[in-house]
Amino acid sequence: MPVDIHDIEAIIAAQNDWRAHCLNLIASETTQSAAVRSVQNSDFMGRYAEGHPNTETETNRYYQGTRYIDEIERMAQSELSALLGARQVDVRPISGNAANTAVALGMLRGGDSVIVNSTDAGGHISHAPIGVFGRRIQSRGMLLKAESEKGIPMHFWPLTEDHYHIDVPKAVALIEQVKPRMVVLGKSLFLFPEPVGEIAAVCRQYDIPVLFDGAHVLGLIAGGEFQQPLAEGATWLTASVHKTFPGPQRGIVAANLPPEQEKKFWQPVDRGVFPGSSSNHHLNTLPALVVATREMQAYGKEYARATIANAQAFAKALDDAGVPVEAREFGYTRSHQVAVNVSQFGGGVEAAKRLESMNIICNYNLLPGDTDPKAPSGLRLGVQEMTRFGMGPDAMGEMATLMADALKGHDVREAVIALRNRYQDLSYC
Ligand SMILES: Cc1ncc(COP(=O)(O)O)c(C=O)c1O
Repeated sequence: MPVDIHDIEAIIAAQNDWRAHCLNLIASETTQSAAVRSVQNSDFMGRYAEGHPNTETETNRYYQGTRYIDEIERMAQSELSALLGARQVDVRPISGNAANTAVALGMLRGGDSVIVNSTDAGGHISHAPIGVFGRRIQSRGMLLKAESEKGIPMHFWPLTEDHYHIDVPKAVALIEQVKPRMVVLGKSLFLFPEPVGEIAAVCRQYDIPVLFDGAHVLGLIAGGEFQQPLAEGATWLTASVHKTFPGPQRGIVAANLPPEQEKKFWQPVDRGVFPGSSSNHHLNTLPALVVATREMQAYGKEYARATIANAQAFAKALDDAGVPVEAREFGYTRSHQVAVNVSQFGGGVEAAKRLESMNIICNYNLLPGDTDPKAPSGLRLGVQEMTRFGMGPDAMGEMATLMADALKGHDVREAVIALRNRYQDLSYC
């Protein structure tokens, strides 16, 4: 007899209803299309497929029963390769973090040095001393601290005065001084493109590989509306496929290496993926990645362009409404994200909670200069999901007014729900 699941169904129904009546501004989330959702509930859910797809002549899997997932995995690889202009794509990492872990496991050993973005400059926790990069380069006796005498050999990119851009001349000097084993570009608070071309040119002289972590911006890259890290010289692109890329929760590693560099820069990462950071890789979600890839192939350019235009319109409207927006002198943003300083509204934690009570969902975030992760002065806002629900610059203006009013202590919950009710159908799919 089936077990009672009414309570679980009720919680799921409540979640579905709640988030359909919220303005969702978490920069790492999206709502998947009906087609992406529909292909995830299948027999693949309970199956295993370690290794690579079999071919007519080679046995690459460690289990039988994989003929159909082999087909899907090859489709995912080849369709993403075409979309991203990449010769190599590994679709097995189960998340962006697992993709980064694969590169770190494959390429780094204790004592190796790396240069990354610090967390307060927007870097992801996986790049940090306590993340996989820090832990991978730790040798016995080293503290998990960067830039300290007894710490790990991790260095942070020097920044320009505004703190939102890498200071290229100083970065070049740091690379020449440290000669790191690897450098990492890309971040979580990601407003502007990184200087991939300049950094990669110097790294090439010393045979230092460049990882570009595009977890947040993969959809903008795929849409051709953000920088193109592989064409600009990055060795690998790691990413989540569920932030600005509207797929299931998974990750990828991509590269565009000539065959003679595969041994050095692709094979170790391949082993870093399996058996490194993933074994069985949640097979039921892989067909959904192929669907999302086709959606991006068809509508990605339009979607990426609309997302960035919306972020810029939202930032301007927030600024006009009295909410200080970061990086005003650079036009606020070139991505899906907007960063606001909410110190005058009680700080990031307090402001994010107040907004949640008004059905505006976002996350608090460190801003440059913040030192205590528990007392950040900022909020990070992403417009990619509301853009998919059809909002344009005018709706961004309405959303900014409501958000500013909420931060100033007004009750805007009903007005937020009314705005969201006008945008319930997904576009670009
Ligand atoms: C820059 C960056 N890299 C990696 C990740 C991890 O991605 P995932 O949540 O898919 O593991 C994130 C998560 O937000 C991120 O911002």
